[in-house]
Amino acid sequence: MNILILGSGGREHTLAWKINQSKRLTKLFVAPGNAGTADIATNIPIGVNDFAAIKKAVIEHAINMVVVGPEDPLVNGVHDYFLKDSELRKVPVIGPQKAAAELEGSKEFAKEFMKRHNIPTASYASFTADSLYKGYAFLETLKAPYVLKADGLAAGKGVVILNNLDDAKKELKHMLVDAKFGEASATVVIEEFLSGIELSVFVLTDGVGYKVLPTAKDYKRIGEGDTGPNTGGMGAISPVPFADEALMDKILYRIVEPTIEGLKKDNLPYKGFIFIGLIKVGNEPKVIEYNVRLGDPETEVVVPRIKNDMIDIFDAVANEDLDGVELSIDERSASTVMLVSGGYPGTYNKGKEITGLKSIEDSLVFQAGTRIEDGKVLTNGGRVVAITSYGKDFEEALNTSYGNIEKIHFDGMNYRKDIGYDL
Ligand code: AMP
Ligand code: GLY
Repeated sequence: MNILILGSGGREHTLAWKINQSKRLTKLFVAPGNAGTADIATNIPIGVNDFAAIKKAVIEHAINMVVVGPEDPLVNGVHDYFLKDSELRKVPVIGPQKAAAELEGSKEFAKEFMKRHNIPTASYASFTADSLYKGYAFLETLKAPYVLKADGLAAGKGVVILNNLDDAKKELKHMLVDAKFGEASATVVIEEFLSGIELSVFVLTDGVGYKVLPTAKDYKRIGEGDTGPNTGGMGAISPVPFADEALMDKILYRIVEPTIEGLKKDNLPYKGFIFIGLIKVGNEPKVIEYNVRLGDPETEVVVPRIKNDMIDIFDAVANEDLDGVELSIDERSASTVMLVSGGYPGTYNKGKEITGLKSIEDSLVFQAGTRIEDGKVLTNGGRVVAITSYGKDFEEALNTSYGNIEKIHFDGMNYRKDIGYDL
């Protein structure tokens, strides 16, 4: 089979690495890809939202399946575009259709879905500029901290948590009236604050059955001890040690199954990954958010633990035969540490030469913001490279990653030295 992956991050390099091991692969393409994917696949320089260019590439390269990495093209309807096109209809797309992608595209939609299907989550209300004063009144009924969420996609920046009521009111006005996040904050969801430890569960569904993939925990803040601004993710571990059988049972019966059944009841066509962001409040799991894709850098620890042939799995998703697949998961733990550009998640420089990548033997190197120029690998984004290792536990895996990081260098390189510190 010829496969096309859409995206350019560490998630997509990891998927490419995994698909590249399949006996069923003929040719692998990544659009637009990075320097890491260029090593193992053919990069096609087109954007993930340029559907016409994607169509051209699919026909030109006789692509048999498209695997979508990021959420934007899904929310923009890439899967529907394929289904509506007579030349593309027979090419399966791994990723939900637009109507279902609203689970990530609209926080209000996701909250209504959870309410309808009795899925545990924070209580909430949503507001627009017309109901600003009702929003103020609602905030007054809550206790600090106040959680404000832009309804639409805001590149991971749309959640604001404030400790002071006046600040929360100002922020609500800023989001609704001054369009702080543009169209994305035309509606704002205000939520009850939940206190607990977070974890992520990844589910793959073909719309009929589903498989629960390994759990993971990511570290979103830039600073050690979970301080400073949010990033796309600075590291991750899998499995999550506190996700024991009792907790997983609750997650399965109260959250995963009602989610899959809810998609069917609501007629939301879904063939792809569901990323369920959870928080454990006391002993009770609650949903913080749905994403309609794999997480990054969670993919860098989840996918390396899947032992099955990835094309077998995706083919089963396309053919609605996932129940016929038996997942085989590596018993070892996996940990990843993200190397980022100095200044990230604020402003940073690109184009710094990265050295030492080839000298690493006992870790997996998954590239994110990188590109090639004159045979040199250069930084090309905030998150640059993820170093993943296996171990008997996440600490052993982390030690291997931290040891290998010493061999890598680029100007301004930064990373968190405390991944897993809270476990
Ligand atoms: P999200 O973009 O929905 O993943 O939210 C970003 C982060 O905000 C989450 O990972 C949580 O750490 C935090 N968060 C979101 N919603 C809540 C909530 N209701 N209570 C406490 N923390 C939250
Ligand atoms: N690591 C969080 C995300 O992919 O959204």
